[in-house]
Amino acid sequence: MSHLTLQLHVVIALYVLFRWCHGGITSINCSGDMWVEPGEIFQMGMNVSIYCQEALKHCRPRNLYFYKNGFKEEFDITRINRTTARIWYKGFSEPHAYMHCTAECPGHFQETLICGKDISSGYPPDAPSNLTCVIYEYSGNMTCTWNTGKPTYIDTKYFVHVKSLETEEEQQYLASSYVKISTDSLQGSRKYLVWVQAVNSLGMENSQQLHVHLDDIVIPSSSIISRAETTNDTVPKTIVYWKSKTMIEKVFCEMRYKATTSQMWSVKEYDANFTYVQQSEFYLEPDSKYVFQVRCQETGKRNWQPWSSPFVHQTSQETGKRNWQPWSSPFVHQTSQTGGYDPMLCSLQLFF
Ligand SMILES: *[C@@H]1O[C@H](CO)[C@@H](O)[C@H](O)[C@H]1NC(C)=O
Ligand SMILES: *[C@@H]1O[C@H](CO)[C@@H](O)[C@H](O)[C@H]1NC(C)=O
Ligand SMILES: *[C@@H]1O[C@H](CO)[C@@H](O)[C@H](O)[C@H]1NC(C)=O
Ligand SMILES: *[C@@H]1O[C@H](CO)[C@@H](O)[C@H](O)[C@H]1NC(C)=O
Ligand SMILES: *[C@@H]1O[C@H](CO)[C@@H](O)[C@H](O)[C@H]1NC(C)=O
Ligand SMILES: *[C@@H]1O[C@H](CO)[C@@H](O)[C@H](O)[C@H]1NC(C)=O
Ligand SMILES: *[C@@H]1O[C@H](CO)[C@@H](O)[C@H](O)[C@H]1NC(C)=O
Repeated sequence: MSHLTLQLHVVIALYVLFRWCHGGITSINCSGDMWVEPGEIFQMGMNVSIYCQEALKHCRPRNLYFYKNGFKEEFDITRINRTTARIWYKGFSEPHAYMHCTAECPGHFQETLICGKDISSGYPPDAPSNLTCVIYEYSGNMTCTWNTGKPTYIDTKYFVHVKSLETEEEQQYLASSYVKISTDSLQGSRKYLVWVQAVNSLGMENSQQLHVHLDDIVIPSSSIISRAETTNDTVPKTIVYWKSKTMIEKVFCEMRYKATTSQMWSVKEYDANFTYVQQSEFYLEPDSKYVFQVRCQETGKRNWQPWSSPFVHQTSQETGKRNWQPWSSPFVHQTSQTGGYDPMLCSLQLFF
């Protein structure tokens, strides 16, 4: 229940209590009418007039009062005639308000409720921008996102149109900020035109149209940095291990890293073959904390994975002479299997 409806209920509850105290509940309907010019939903910053017209039996009201969010208003109220009063707001800029009005009836101790209304102000939607559609590998869905632009403050709906360029068939999906479309429903063709229509009671705008080829928008299954180690060589070397469950053969990746005390990222690029766990070598400052992140895309395509979550690794203290390698293979190249590596030895190494 919204704040405003709650308030309405409080007002009604008070009213019911009030009527009950004064001789029984008759009705909690409006005893009259309230209307808003230019309308109950209007553009923020407009001048607004709210009218209250009583239709009370056995009452010729001395005064009509307006309340906004439960507080009595004092200014810009005009009594138009015996039954009707108006309140005027210059440049109304609250996104929501609950208005109600009451009458002061002669011989009655308390005011009598006439009517109430929720009013809202906001903006027509901006045209959705930066429409992007991707298929996360194995998700079974095409996910489309867009920027909604400035806030509208009022209920705004987005209709995602997906039109096959081969069959001309068009489907529509209702969304609030993004949409997931099952790839099962996209089996008619590989090429689509996608656009988003933003609609609220103050206006309607279309995004630009996006050409989508289903084979071009797949984002490889997420890449993960699994561990890192620093060798105790004369020139210590840090090896970072990373992997992905992707089935895509040609994958292009970036690894970025920086000392935790630094602002500047360094970036290395890789052609990855995730048949193997990937190993990347770095020559870093000793006894420092570094953070690593990786992201990939299908080689030659547009859409990147988001950066993997930060992996922090502390390089070992400066050592010098000893040359102890915990894995059997004397050479490490960018893509080689983890075979021959003993994790126990590695964790031992970290203790020294
Ligand atoms: C409001 O008025 C209508 C018509 O007079 C009546 O049927 C209805 O019961 C009233 N509602 C309440 C809550 O009293
Ligand atoms: C609102 O009223 C003021 C004062 O009458 C006027 O100057 C202004 O132009 C009005 N604004 C709009 C949006 O009508
Ligand atoms: C009072 O003014 C309102 C608004 O202009 C109008 O709708 C209504 O008919 C008037 N009533 C009387 C009794 O003049
Ligand atoms: C457009 O959307 C993509 C994907 O959501 C995002 O990476 C990019 O920063 C956005 N660009 C702008 C200009 O908002
Ligand atoms: C596709 O998206 C829908 C809606 O969010 C979700 O319920 C479903 O699990 C997703 N499909 C897969 C295969 O993840
Ligand atoms: C990845 O490695 C496997 C196994 O060696 C090989 O069969 C495949 O062709 C490689 N893929 C690419 C794109 O190089
Ligand atoms: C690395 O070498 C230093 C200096 O020779 C030695 O003190 C340290 O114990 C070695 N660390 C490991 C893990 O072997």
